[in-house]
Amino acid sequence: MLHELKKREETIKQVSAGAAESQYKYQLEQYKFQTEQHLRLESEHLREELQQSLQTLKTTQEHLINSEKLAVLGSLVAGVAHEIKNPLGAISIHVQLLKKALGSATAPAVDRYLKIVDEEINRLNSIVVDFLFAVRPMNITTINDDLNRLVKELADFLRPEAEAADIELRLELDTTLPPIPFDRHFLKQALLNLITNASAAMEHGGSLLLRTGQDSNEARITVKDSGCGIDERNLSKIFEPYYTTKSDGTGLGLTLTYKIVKEHGGDIAVKSKAGFGSEFVVSLPIPQTNQKLITGRCADREHEHEPQNTDCR
Ligand SMILES: Nc1ncnc2c1ncn2[C@@H]1O[C@H](COP(=O)(O)OP(=O)(O)O)[C@@H](O)[C@H]1O
Ligand SMILES: [Mg+2]
Repeated sequence: MLHELKKREETIKQVSAGAAESQYKYQLEQYKFQTEQHLRLESEHLREELQQSLQTLKTTQEHLINSEKLAVLGSLVAGVAHEIKNPLGAISIHVQLLKKALGSATAPAVDRYLKIVDEEINRLNSIVVDFLFAVRPMNITTINDDLNRLVKELADFLRPEAEAADIELRLELDTTLPPIPFDRHFLKQALLNLITNASAAMEHGGSLLLRTGQDSNEARITVKDSGCGIDERNLSKIFEPYYTTKSDGTGLGLTLTYKIVKEHGGDIAVKSKAGFGSEFVVSLPIPQTNQKLITGRCADREHEHEPQNTDCR
């Protein structure tokens, strides 16, 4: 380009220096043509860029309108869900009172009917509670805390249930993890959802691994099971609200988990193979200032077992 410009400059100089105009006329015409072509291309390019920017602007505007609509819809439905909770509680209390009033002399059929009413109330209640959890804005308050302690607490809490279900619960804790900012209540809920799903996927027992780890700027919590796994076709759907393969599922557990993790500025990844188990990895940012606050040495690591094949419901 620079070379080309120099050549043109030279020609113009020669013309103005009185060189035979005819000698350079053709060359000047050429340059004029080339410049015009160049300008045409440039303006075409600019027009394309402008069109692309306009398209981006239009899509962003549409997204904004949609998310605004969703926000309004969300708060409307959340209001309705909240209103459902109170009568539901009242129905539940009155079913218990009815049971008491009828005493033990009721026909077996009545008992059965009341049991079904009770179960359905609980189901509705958990749908409403999970829904409210998923749509309400979260008030996440993070404080620097020990991730290992949270995982250990969860493991202690779950161990009796796991043992009863023939699930071997293993822990691999990286004790060099620095404290990181998280909301204890919400993160516990998120991990519980992952663990509940993992246990549900191992109907006939199996192994459940809870592992913590890190790289330079993120802490990781892995929940790995040897359960039924997730078919590749369904892997993209599992975080969608209301996606469930369980007869008593709400399909909101992973939606909620995803939301909690995102509110922490983190991410969640899943690897799964039908018949071989699943691995969910939650990663949370370690702020630069915390990276030096290393708490100890790496804990003993147990060897991982190959996941077993179990049936899924
Ligand atoms: N560890 C897992 N193993 C197998 N399938 C899983 C696992 N975790 C989630 N899933 C699948 O993702 C679906 C959605 O999970 P979730 O949002 O928690 O809703 P729910 O548990 O109420 O079905 C589950 O119904 C199940 O099909
Ligand atoms: Mg679930």
